[in-house]
Amino acid sequence: MKKTVATILKQKSSHDRITMLTAYDYSTARLIDESGIDMILVGDSLGMVVLGYEDTLSVTMEDMIHHTAAVARGAKNAFVVSDMPFMSYQTSVYDAVVNAGRLMKEGRANAVKLEGGTEFSEHIKAIVNASIPVVGHIGMTPQSVNKFGGFTVQGRDKETAEKIIKDAKAVEQAGAFAVVMECVPDKLAAYITEILSIPVIGIGAGAECDGQVLVYQDMLGMYSDFTPKFVKKYAEIGNSMKEAFSKYIEEVKSGKFPDKKHTFTLKEDIDFEKLNNEK
Ligand code: KIV
Repeated sequence: MKKTVATILKQKSSHDRITMLTAYDYSTARLIDESGIDMILVGDSLGMVVLGYEDTLSVTMEDMIHHTAAVARGAKNAFVVSDMPFMSYQTSVYDAVVNAGRLMKEGRANAVKLEGGTEFSEHIKAIVNASIPVVGHIGMTPQSVNKFGGFTVQGRDKETAEKIIKDAKAVEQAGAFAVVMECVPDKLAAYITEILSIPVIGIGAGAECDGQVLVYQDMLGMYSDFTPKFVKKYAEIGNSMKEAFSKYIEEVKSGKFPDKKHTFTLKEDIDFEKLNNEK
C-alpha cells in the first residue's frame, strides 16, 4: 500500500520506526521499494554520489526534476521526498513555492524537503499553503557547508544546541510534517524527538529518533570519496562491482565472453558469400 503523510505521522505515535533511504534512479528505487522501505529521498546528495561534485551546491532544479521523476516511476509503495536544491528557495518565498510545485508537478514527488530552520518558516508555510507536504532539514545542513566550514557536527555546545531546538520548533510550527536532523549529538536529537509532535528522521543523530535515513551508496560501500562516521556499511557492493567489471574485461579480452548461451543463432543455413555476390 502506498505510504502517505497520514501513515508516516501514525508511525510516530505507534513507535514504528520510519525507514528512509536515498535513490536517484528507477531501478534502484524499485529495489528499495520492493524491500519494503517507508520513504525514499531523492536527496541533493545526488550532486556528490551521482554527479561527482565536491558538495551539493551545483545541483539544479532540472537535475532534481529529472531524477525525482525516475524514482517516482519506480516507487510503487514508498513515499517519495524530493530535495529543493541550493538557491531554489533561499531567494524568495515566491521561488520556494514555484520550485516546490515543479518537483511535485514535473517530478511527481509526494513531498519536498528543504534545509534550514527559523530563517525559512515563511517559505515552509507558503509551500504548505499550496498543499505541498514539507519535510524540514536541520542540524548540519550540507547546503551551508561554506558557513559551517565543512560537514561538521552541529549542536555540541549550549549556543548551537539552543539554535537547533529553536529551528526544530519553527519547522514544526510552520507546518512541516516531518524533519530530518543531521549530524547532531544523540542526546540533543533524543530531546527534540520527544518535544516535537512530528516525526524526526535522523542521520548521524543517534538511535532515539523516530526514524533513520542513509545515502544508499554509503550503506552499500559504493562511494569512497568521503564516508561519515555515522555510516554503517550493510554490504560492500562497490568491491563486488569492481570484481565483476574486472572479470568482464578479462573474459572479453580472452574471448570467453560471449559464449554460445549468450549468442543468437540463424533460423536456417545461409551461404553469406553467395548472398553477397548474387546479381
Ligand atoms: O541529500 C541527501 O541525501 C540528504 C540526506 C543526507 C538526509 O539530505
